Amino acid sequence: MKRARIVGTGMAVPECVVDNHLLSRCMNTSDEWIVQRTGIRERRVSPDTYRMLLRLAEAPDKVAFMDEVFAQGLDGKIDSTLTVSDLAFEASTMALKNAGVEPRQLDCIIDSSTVPDFAYPHTGCVLQGKFGLTSTPAICLQQGCAGFIFGLAVADQFIRGGIYERVLVVGAELLSSIFDYTDRGRDMAVLFADGAGAVVLQAVDSGESGLISHHLHTDGTILDGLSGEVWGTSTYPAISKKKIEEGRGRPRMNGRAVFVQAVRRFREVIGKCLGANRLTVADVDCFIFHQANIRIIEAVTDALKIPPEKTFNNVERYGNTAAASVPMALHEAVLAGRIKDGDLVLLAAFGTGFSWGASLLRW
Ligand code: UT7
Repeated sequence: MKRARIVGTGMAVPECVVDNHLLSRCMNTSDEWIVQRTGIRERRVSPDTYRMLLRLAEAPDKVAFMDEVFAQGLDGKIDSTLTVSDLAFEASTMALKNAGVEPRQLDCIIDSSTVPDFAYPHTGCVLQGKFGLTSTPAICLQQGCAGFIFGLAVADQFIRGGIYERVLVVGAELLSSIFDYTDRGRDMAVLFADGAGAVVLQAVDSGESGLISHHLHTDGTILDGLSGEVWGTSTYPAISKKKIEEGRGRPRMNGRAVFVQAVRRFREVIGKCLGANRLTVADVDCFIFHQANIRIIEAVTDALKIPPEKTFNNVERYGNTAAASVPMALHEAVLAGRIKDGDLVLLAAFGTGFSWGASLLRW
């Protein structure tokens, strides 16, 4: 039987850096509050969000300015200069180059993006088209922050089953395009940001390093925890002026519920992953968590007695990039020499759905 191995990683972030001080000029928040509650010091956002934030910081009536942007775009323009598929393409190009694989050698593309370029077709299709491919299947998993782990698990089954040899798995997000950066949206706007990460999986013989096991879960009974109705059949019609005016187009989060669930589910799924493979924390060389916020990660590592030197975190520099955060952290951990050949690595994520999961692999 074949096994899937990660043979190349890549990532991409926009050039524009937004620190907590710029956000403090747009909404009632502070560097101290954000660092203490989340561990985030700065994040990357699209050039459009960056220009908007600079203008919002100067606006005398911030709510009126933000409403004007939601209604008319910035300076009356609503076309984006950077889309989520642009970031996905950049990260994927890097992963393919690092793997020494040409796009035409891919058998399948699996993307997860919470907010796509278009409602349909999905971002995987747009990304595939950017590579000039005309028949490679592109699959999109809309699994929020857990999307990359779900994507890895699906890709692994295709490779183990002998159906595909090379699969590109991508997590890409341009979340800064959906938030309200005034006091109304401050709970979420300070957390989330833009970025993309990608890996190339290749079939290898079963005795070699590679993906070992995946443990996936969803609880769809707590939808209010973290959701967005931007374009959906929860309303009739699916999109309307009224929906937007009532703020139902924007994301919602119950921060405390997410926090409690995330800590509980991370603990459970890591325990399950270790137990299924008859391992303990001591056997794992590196834990890569979804970079939701540092307090969630610390609560989990404290509870499971995972030493800090066994984790790699970059939430301080990028914020929460949802589906992109695990592949971005994996890429940087490999570059930093924190993951070496033969290391046992555990990836874990939790997000909207709620959906959560863990993957174990030998690097
Ligand atoms: O991928 C999963 C993504 N989601 C998450 O990771 C979120 C998980 N949740 C959290 O990390 C925390 O719940 C937050 C960081 C979102 C909030 O921290 P908290 O300690 O749970 O604060 P809270 O929601 O209980 O709010 C405390 C206060 C409130 O004011 P009042 O009601 O006490 O006057 C909030 O309005 O903090 C206020 N607040 C803020 N203050 C300054 C909320 N957002 C902000 C902000 N700046 N950005």
